[in-house]
Amino acid sequence: MKVLVAVGSKYGATREVAKRIAEEIESHGFEVDLEDASDVQGIHYYEAVVLGSAVYGGLWRRDASYLVKEHLDELREKDVWLFSVGMETVVEPGQPLDEADGFAKDIGAHDHARFPGALDWDKLNVGEKALIKVLNPPKGDFRDFTAVRDWATGVATQLEGIAAG
Ligand SMILES: Cc1cc2nc3c(=O)[nH]c(=O)nc-3n(C[C@H](O)[C@H](O)[C@H](O)COP(=O)(O)O)c2cc1C
Repeated sequence: MKVLVAVGSKYGATREVAKRIAEEIESHGFEVDLEDASDVQGIHYYEAVVLGSAVYGGLWRRDASYLVKEHLDELREKDVWLFSVGMETVVEPGQPLDEADGFAKDIGAHDHARFPGALDWDKLNVGEKALIKVLNPPKGDFRDFTAVRDWATGVATQLEGIAAG
């Protein structure tokens, strides 16, 4: 079974999460392609898709959300898992956590997981620094690769069930 793991990431924290997910699924014997969402040409080749993104201002990165919108009908026919990487402390009051809950519903995804990300002050641009200064979330790397691997193991186990028919 061919599996696509696609990711939208601005500063690389989410790309590393996607890499760990891809490695775990691969270790269960599946053929896995790991791609930036912006590099994905088509998804017809894959039976299952794991798609994730960093969250900025409650939204997925545009390449990842474009992939959902562009391939919505196809995704509905496949086994799909979504994951979001963010820092909930950056969320402004009243702002929904992220738009991917809606994507998961539209697609009929098996799951939409949320993982904590990383905030590297030195990498941010001027506008981002201004926003982050106001919200003042904790800075640093809060990624939990054990939780990521456990979730990916769950995805692989479900894929094994699907493959066994
Ligand atoms: C300007 C800015 C806005 C952000 N907005 C959100 C948000 O709305 N919700 C959230 O959960 N995380 C938010 N974050 C946290 C990022 O999603 C987190 O830092 C993530 O790990 C970045 O991943 P990347 O390195 O793959 O781009 C924001 C970060 C920045 C710098």
